[in-house]
Amino acid sequence: MIHKKILLSAALAGLAFISVYSQSNPFNGTGYTIQKKVDAGNGAVVSAHPLASMAGLEMLKRGGNAVDAAIATQLALAVVYPQAGNIGGGGFMVAHFNNGSHITIDYREKAPGKAGRDMFLDKDGNALTDLSQSSHLASGVPGTVAGLFASMKYAKLPFKTLIQPAIDLAENGFAITASQAASFNNNRDEFLQQNTSPVAFVKDGQWKAGDILIQQELANTLKRIRDQGQKGFYEGETARLLAEEMRKGNGIISTGDLASYEAKERPAVVFTYKGYQVISMPLPSSGGLMLQQMMKMIEDRDIASMKFQTTASVQLMTEVERRAFADRAEFLGDADFVKVPVKKLVSEEYLKERMNDYVPGKAGNSKTTGAGSIKESEETTHLSVIDKDGNAVAVTTTLNDSYGSHRVVAGAGFILNNEMDDFSIKPGVPNMYGAIGNDKNAIAPAKRMLSSMTPTLVLKDGNPFLVVGTPGGTTIPTSVFQTLVNILEFGMSPEDAVNKPKFHHQWLPDRIDIEKNFPEDVRKQLEAMGYSIKLREAIGRTEVIRVTYNQSTKQRSIVAVGDKRGDDDARGY
Ligand code: GLY
Repeated sequence: MIHKKILLSAALAGLAFISVYSQSNPFNGTGYTIQKKVDAGNGAVVSAHPLASMAGLEMLKRGGNAVDAAIATQLALAVVYPQAGNIGGGGFMVAHFNNGSHITIDYREKAPGKAGRDMFLDKDGNALTDLSQSSHLASGVPGTVAGLFASMKYAKLPFKTLIQPAIDLAENGFAITASQAASFNNNRDEFLQQNTSPVAFVKDGQWKAGDILIQQELANTLKRIRDQGQKGFYEGETARLLAEEMRKGNGIISTGDLASYEAKERPAVVFTYKGYQVISMPLPSSGGLMLQQMMKMIEDRDIASMKFQTTASVQLMTEVERRAFADRAEFLGDADFVKVPVKKLVSEEYLKERMNDYVPGKAGNSKTTGAGSIKESEETTHLSVIDKDGNAVAVTTTLNDSYGSHRVVAGAGFILNNEMDDFSIKPGVPNMYGAIGNDKNAIAPAKRMLSSMTPTLVLKDGNPFLVVGTPGGTTIPTSVFQTLVNILEFGMSPEDAVNKPKFHHQWLPDRIDIEKNFPEDVRKQLEAMGYSIKLREAIGRTEVIRVTYNQSTKQRSIVAVGDKRGDDDARGY
């Protein structure tokens, strides 16, 4: 099905893209194909859309580094992948530099100043998930543009160069793929219901592959950002339009909330796994911490000998996923606001104890296995970049649901997130991904909602070996976990590690979700053990870069792979 879509869009799109972008010659949004894999020697970019990967590659070829490429790719995604690419949402960047240092940048959305703990409860205390997921109140203060400017400290090229492909793609338009045409058609009614002004994603009649999408209002917003910097978004005309949009829809993001938004650099989650160094995102993402917990809970077990997707390896991985998610629900929230026992949660002793009640061959149970004892949307998008100098960047960004709140800021052309639903709007009430939480993740003004995004780097002998990440809500940490185990333990190629079926357990609901093509015999054996199993749609869209070194020739070989589950695309040179 997906293959058919790709071939159709490729055929309609026509000839292969030729990179001729320059200031006088706009970035071309037509005539491209989708490329799933590339072997390269210098650098590579993988993202959810070919045009965004090409924009990033263009920056690498112009002498930019991995951060330049990541910025240009994100901005292009905001235009060509409106489901999740954004300037109205937020994200995280994890980067490793060739001087041995690494950084993370947190540009997660924040609760507006007027937000309150019970803002999504009715007078009887019932949770109002419609409001937290689909209203102007659902939006957090966007962080993406602040994140891009915080990243500029590490970039080499001027911002105006990095943003120009996005402006060209918005202003001159780009040819949409078959899956985008289907997605716009499926979301047409929702866009019409939620907006009073015309929206670029809605047209008379049905969209089809190869149609040109022009987003002039978004182009104008991007030009304000190009010309005025961060203030082009958080102050002046864009801020005024956003505040006006809020007033129209009874939202509460104010110009003051926008002016005071700041992205933050935070110390990375860093841990070793069998000699590899893993670098990932700290709180307010739960992803890095959960990844550390899950990897460490399997480290002393010989999972390699159990082999890929056998009953034994799936059961073990399911049980560590269960325990990590139980801890997430109980202990995790924005550490700028609440105390989180991070050290304890990742300590060897604690994680060993967590696995005490694991019985191979017998299904665990989320009633008896809750959080540990301690005293004291489904839609995101990921991009991975490596440059010729060995700098590596992993970025995951989100609007939360596909197309966020479906509300487009009138006159400014960008979609607003519905990230407030990632808070725990009431203890025990699941968010749209079924994740539950408690007071640690309760709403408070200027607090960041807990995330699952897990942009991750793996180093070998101090050099980048893997750049990994995926969209998918709560399936993000488990997909990254499985991708790492597939490569580090099962010796899989990046292509197989990305494309083979995945599974997912998140403590509650107490069941294993599996993708189609998951081995039938393993499914039956797990059911016989007592697991409840549910077949679901695609899990994640993982983007992987693997770098290997030939010690004698000192040559680097880069393999970059875009997930077959979408239009994901890998470019390199
Ligand atoms: N909105 C999905 C996440 O941040 O986990």
